[in-house]
Amino acid sequence: MNYFEYRDGELFAEGVPVRRIAQEVGTPAYIYSLATLRRHFRVFDQAFASFSHVVCFSMKSNSNLAILRIFVKEGGGFDIVSGGELFRALRAGADPKKIVFSGVGKRKEEFEYALTSGILMFNVESEQELTVLNEVARGVGKKAPISLRVNPDVDPKTHPYISTGMKKSKFGIDIKRSMDEYKRALSLSHLEVIGVDCHIGSQLTSVPPFVDALTRVRSLVDALRKEGAGIRYLDLGGGLGIKYKDEDPPHPEAYAEALIRGLEGLDVTLILEPGRVIVGNAGILVSEVLYLKETDEKKFVVVDGAMNDLIRPALYGSYQGISPVMKRDGEGIVADVVGPICESGDFFAKDREIPRVQPGDFLAIMSAGAYGFTMASNYNSRPKAAEVLVDGANFYVVRGRETLEDLIKGEVIPPILQ
Ligand code: LLP
Repeated sequence: MNYFEYRDGELFAEGVPVRRIAQEVGTPAYIYSLATLRRHFRVFDQAFASFSHVVCFSMKSNSNLAILRIFVKEGGGFDIVSGGELFRALRAGADPKKIVFSGVGKRKEEFEYALTSGILMFNVESEQELTVLNEVARGVGKKAPISLRVNPDVDPKTHPYISTGMKKSKFGIDIKRSMDEYKRALSLSHLEVIGVDCHIGSQLTSVPPFVDALTRVRSLVDALRKEGAGIRYLDLGGGLGIKYKDEDPPHPEAYAEALIRGLEGLDVTLILEPGRVIVGNAGILVSEVLYLKETDEKKFVVVDGAMNDLIRPALYGSYQGISPVMKRDGEGIVADVVGPICESGDFFAKDREIPRVQPGDFLAIMSAGAYGFTMASNYNSRPKAAEVLVDGANFYVVRGRETLEDLIKGEVIPPILQ
């Protein structure tokens, strides 16, 4: 459920007409609803209320400081994958003891930064990473709290680019080899083995793959305890899907119920790393229609947003709903909704039935709160869009639109060229 709704044919974000924001802030602009973000976080968190847990929001899905701050205030932690994300989380006021650090390619400086910040746990993804982390921890005179990210070889039945828990994936350590790696970790002086981690993929729309993964990692926890490892945390990653179009993903309560059933009798603190399910449907991208273009074959609606602002359709062929900000009467059209970038892949929708629009109209690209702005780039030297947070009848620009000067920040013409 979210708070983007029509009132008398006009799209509102909570109590604010989307048109008003588009006119005052300009387009393209991301608009997020605070009430939706809070609601999604609370529904998810409360679904696990009967089991000791920490919700570590996966900030790769949306890392705007204001949004992170909402989750800090809700008592959440963060799943990070880089030093940059750690910096953002700390700036947003995060408790380092609620931060878990995942990712296949962590650098030494990132280990050092995270160790000195005192994060909860490193999710280690390879044998060599164990060695390097142990050395860095020795260097800073600390013990690094770790889990191994194991790869339980479960098919999440989602898009291949976002499946991560299968044998052929670059992520994690094969669960069959993980016991040997854990034994090695236990023998290293500057590591403290405290958890087991897995993440099998993103945009999962059914519960069984999560339960299968849990069953496999649970046996590992039992086996590790027999080896004397003090396993206190079980991190089951993120991945719960949302409705973009026809999907019917499980409600967080059904997901939580199934996991809690699978955890019965196990004395651990559960870590969850949801991203999309919290922010995906809490944000939209608003664009202005620039031109209508018609060929013998097709109609095109050219808007001012592009694949540099929201790359999901271009990268995954994914579906994003497209809604008019002001509904017009009359018959719709079938068109491609495209951006100004010089690539045929620059589209938000293909052969989509949409209401008739005119240049100057605004269109909302729905379900854009997750992996929208965080995947944006400056391709074609396009300044990044503004980000706006709506709270009831008020709205706040939480990231100003980039300027032309921002585009060349750090670039230098060396003296030999002057
Ligand atoms: N934890 C780990 C270790 C992850 O790799 C991810 C996502 C998550 C948690 C959060 O997953 P979520 O709850 O958001 O499904 N850019 C793609 C999605 C990439 C997901 C990468 N990992 C997209 O736009 O669909």
